[in-house]
Amino acid sequence: MINQHTVQQIIERAQIEEVVEEFVGLKRRGANMLGLCPFHNEKTPSFTVSPAKNIYKCFGCGKGGNTVQFVMEHESLTFPEALRYLAKKYNIEIEETETSDEYKEERKLVDALFLVNQFASKYYQEQLFNTDEGRSIGLGYFKERGFIESTIKKFDLGYASASYDDFTKKAIDQQYNIEHLRTLRLTTEKDLDFFRSRVMFAIHNLSGKVIGFGGRILSENKKSPKYLNSAESEIYNKRKVLYGLYQAKTAIRKLKNCFIVEGYTDVLSLHQNGVENVVASSGTALTESQIRLIKRYTENITLLYDGDAAGIKAASKGLDLVLEQEMNVNIVLLPDNHDPDSFIKLKGSTGFLEFIEENKKDFILFKTSLISKEAEKDPIQKASLLRDIIQSIARIPDTIKRSLYIKQCSSLLDIKEDILVSETNKAINGLIKQKRLEQDREAYRNQRIQQNQAQTDDTGFPIESPKKIDHHQKRVDFYNDEFQERDIARIIVSAGDKWYDEKENIKVFEFLYQNIEDVIDSLENPLYLKLINIAKVEFEKNNAIPESYFISHSDEEISQLAIDLVSSPYTYAKWEERKVSLQTSLPPEENQRKDTMRSLLRFLLKKLNQKIKHQEDLIKSMDSQLNGEEYILELKVLNKLQQHRNELAKDFGTTVLKM
Ligand code: UTP
Ligand code: MN
Repeated sequence: MINQHTVQQIIERAQIEEVVEEFVGLKRRGANMLGLCPFHNEKTPSFTVSPAKNIYKCFGCGKGGNTVQFVMEHESLTFPEALRYLAKKYNIEIEETETSDEYKEERKLVDALFLVNQFASKYYQEQLFNTDEGRSIGLGYFKERGFIESTIKKFDLGYASASYDDFTKKAIDQQYNIEHLRTLRLTTEKDLDFFRSRVMFAIHNLSGKVIGFGGRILSENKKSPKYLNSAESEIYNKRKVLYGLYQAKTAIRKLKNCFIVEGYTDVLSLHQNGVENVVASSGTALTESQIRLIKRYTENITLLYDGDAAGIKAASKGLDLVLEQEMNVNIVLLPDNHDPDSFIKLKGSTGFLEFIEENKKDFILFKTSLISKEAEKDPIQKASLLRDIIQSIARIPDTIKRSLYIKQCSSLLDIKEDILVSETNKAINGLIKQKRLEQDREAYRNQRIQQNQAQTDDTGFPIESPKKIDHHQKRVDFYNDEFQERDIARIIVSAGDKWYDEKENIKVFEFLYQNIEDVIDSLENPLYLKLINIAKVEFEKNNAIPESYFISHSDEEISQLAIDLVSSPYTYAKWEERKVSLQTSLPPEENQRKDTMRSLLRFLLKKLNQKIKHQEDLIKSMDSQLNGEEYILELKVLNKLQQHRNELAKDFGTTVLKM
């Protein structure tokens, strides 16, 4: 692992404009530099580099980050790889930390397991091509299904013979550890070969190492499952793998779309026909980790499923997760009795892709069309499908998108729009509650883990934040208007470290925190809550939270957020345009107190208004006759809240006027 000192040194020394200029032509524009964005196609430059803040930000596609992130993104490198790249450029000698014995042991095991799998994969390939049995049975089967040799080689296909223990014996001969063979389930507890008389599909990780196998039966023997799979192990977690992604990732990025099919053979067949942006979920519902894997390469997913009932069911499963990740999902049902493999064979790649273009349906509208079909037959089924759709829509973070879907569904299903809106809002509230609950559980779990864990994460960065909330917290905002919360976050990042009152020795962050502490739990966006918690801990530790602390934070969500916040057009472009008026109205950087006060009041007002709304709803739902005393009490609460709000609003008015 690269040690922390080296990491710091690299981050400090690497100058963003020097690094970017190797790939992008930049022109000076005021304090910043401007060029054509390397991450999306554009004709007028919106890719901005700020040498002072040592970050880049594209106002066209939204990508932004620090020097290390630029190298990672542009060169498709991992974090340590990007560090090594920069270290080389700046002649910085890399010091590796002494890793713990435990870590070394684990690393050793992982490496050993990779080697065993590599041996196994070579063995199965050898069997396929160079033994009589393999050639006639295994290769015969693949040929019969139409797979050509280059496809077979590209995917490391192989053959496991009928022998009881030939593989295990050879492996042991070559000094492979029997425990490792068992761990990977290549060998049974009785020291026999696990895969026998099967064609073998090697499963790769993103760097092309073999992490497991699927073995397909060849006989009609119905007693044995069609596919056997490797055991899950330190190197194979089937929920985090997509079959074919290693071979597909370049095409996915290039074509900006990822097809998802069910079977190994569908992947092979599409590849062979020139459709290379395809992966298989291997028969199970998609998981969140799998979706995140795809999201590294594209935001667009097209699901290809059989047109039968089972296909439709499989397709809908796990999809709400995709919606939450702000990805665009289309779905294509193939004609009856076809899977992608048989269909592309029938149509050829052009016909196949044409069919997809003509028949792909937006996922939510697809669900909606299911309802209208069902509705005529079965009203109960209709109601349950409708609930299902509302759940899906509720998960879409983007407000505009959400309301578009509601409009479309309303007209397709002939249901009043405001009914759909209020049902969706209920669903959103339900989801928020559920998330909070999950967060609490996660926090509890993390606290316990943290007590017995080394204080570094897997990139070698020390964990500086308390793992109070889920580290992998999704970037969801289910919420209509998050401006006020975001503005608080902006102040913390860009001005938290500045004086609010130097005489009183109070920094902006302290002042803010004291004032929002009570309502912090009602923050709707978990990401901002995370930021505040991180800031709190750092502030208590060092009494300082410079902007750069957030920008180069090891938690990518935090550093991304910080970059977005400090490079918003508001701080970049607008102030430059407004240079003329600077004498009369100070930029926020120089007017910390007022800026802070204004955001704070706005935020508190928003929270109060929410509470008032909530209280009003509560009162509306009560029957004044039935709950006499209670009713009056709640009315009083409402009154207090309204008073408080009016006072705040008055403060707000004066502060704003004074600006
Ligand atoms: P399919 O039965 O459609 O398999 O199952 P396939 O890959 O298309 O195989 P062919 O075309 O019949 O040869 C889809 C996927 O479900 C998983 C496998 O990943 C398979 O590719 N599966 C299926 C299993 O893991 N075990 C099984 O017993 C069956
Ligand atoms: Mn098939």
